[in-house]
Amino acid sequence: MSARRPLVGGNWKMHLTSAEARDWAARFGRQAGGQTGRLAGRQAEVVLFPSFPLLPVLARALTGSPVALGGQDLHPAASGAHTGDVSGPQLADAGCSWVLCGHSERRQDHGETDAEVAAKVAAAGRHGLVPLVCLGETAGERRGGETFAVLTRQLRAALEPRPERFALAYEPVWAIGTGDTATPETAQEAHAVLRRTLSEILGAAVAARCRILYGGSANPDNAAALIAQPDLDGFLVGGASLDPDRFLAIIRACGP
Ligand code: 13P
Repeated sequence: MSARRPLVGGNWKMHLTSAEARDWAARFGRQAGGQTGRLAGRQAEVVLFPSFPLLPVLARALTGSPVALGGQDLHPAASGAHTGDVSGPQLADAGCSWVLCGHSERRQDHGETDAEVAAKVAAAGRHGLVPLVCLGETAGERRGGETFAVLTRQLRAALEPRPERFALAYEPVWAIGTGDTATPETAQEAHAVLRRTLSEILGAAVAARCRILYGGSANPDNAAALIAQPDLDGFLVGGASLDPDRFLAIIRACGP
């Protein structure tokens, strides 16, 4: 485990209603020790990425807790005629301090290109949001021996705006929602490539500070072995984050 403070994100994707989100927050608060204050300090930093309509619900339900909020996406523009999109200022106004950029489901479902991801990273910085940049290869790219070329291409593009604050999430597409988690060795190898590339682009100090999360069927059973890897600094959790007990178990696996 590294000296970097672990970061654990819960990506709720298109799940849960407002009543379910309130229930989640109440259960999470109880399990985390009354108030979620126990998560402060040296324990992992925690951020939830719910779908947009749930942001105000969670902002209220998590008042006073150290759990931060983030958007799952943002439009590069601050406002305008973009039906169905959400802007950085709107996310900040809703209580977000983070935003996901370039999740593979956005790249696949909405054809997001590397250049668009870069524009979103730039927009996040302009509006005071920290981008959590998601990168990862498909099963076909891995079979074709292209994993590291894909990761370095995605990383170089996303860092084109030279963001001051950011974190990365290595999310191999073949591991997302499949139960087919990357082994600790496979994840570490990819994380090390990302950190080395980061060092080439932004220098050794930035690379040493940057948190690189793993995402893809992370769960309470595999979290401890993964977080033990030297370049793995936390998790971006999908399915297991919908259950507060399982999410908390992953957070605790990252704790001191
Ligand atoms: P799962 O944890 O459900 O595999 O999802 C991972 C993910 O996509 C997080 O962004």
